[in-house]
Amino acid sequence: MRFVGIALVLLLAACASASTAGLPAPEPMGNLAQVMRGILFTNSNILFDVQSSDPAAPPVEAASGGGATANFAGIYGGWQKVENAAIALGESANLITIPGRRCENGRPVPLSQPDWAQFTQQLKDAADVMLVAARAEDQEAASDATNDVAEACYVCHEVYRDVEPRCTP
Ligand code: HEC
Repeated sequence: MRFVGIALVLLLAACASASTAGLPAPEPMGNLAQVMRGILFTNSNILFDVQSSDPAAPPVEAASGGGATANFAGIYGGWQKVENAAIALGESANLITIPGRRCENGRPVPLSQPDWAQFTQQLKDAADVMLVAARAEDQEAASDATNDVAEACYVCHEVYRDVEPRCTP
């Protein structure tokens, strides 16, 4: 019986490694604050914009001679931009659970805290609600969904960011 158990474990281990063979293990590049500033902050602002401007409105003509951001702002614009920002936010929930990332002050991201998982799930859920509204091109539903997003940022920050030291324990 014991041998069967061991054989099964080995078999499962072999399957797991076969499916990811050759792939680099996900590893963090920046600290948590950098991920927040580079991905969560920028993309949630795109979502918050929906409260005051209609994504379906025709894009403002970019002045000629601008850089890449200005020149290509309209390419994945409109509701697609909102949809992509919702996806970026949902993906960021995956990024903040990669093992080994540190906070700006060097403390480890508190992955083993049960409420970290819960707050991360809340972020993912908010991104999902946002994505549904963006796909439906429904400005009112999308504006409402920004409340879920803001709430998801807030509940985690209250416990792990707006405290000393940050990212406790
Ligand atoms: C699961 C927890 C969690 C969620 C969800 C979360 N954050 Fe954070 N955030 C943190 C922590 C912890 C820090 C501090 C990181 C550090 O010091 O390295 C932080 C830092 C930040 C910072 C950097 C502040 C500074 O020092 O300049 C920004 C900006 C930010 N978050 C934006 C957001 C936004 C916007 C959302 C929601 C869309 C969000 N965060 C969701 C935990 C979270």
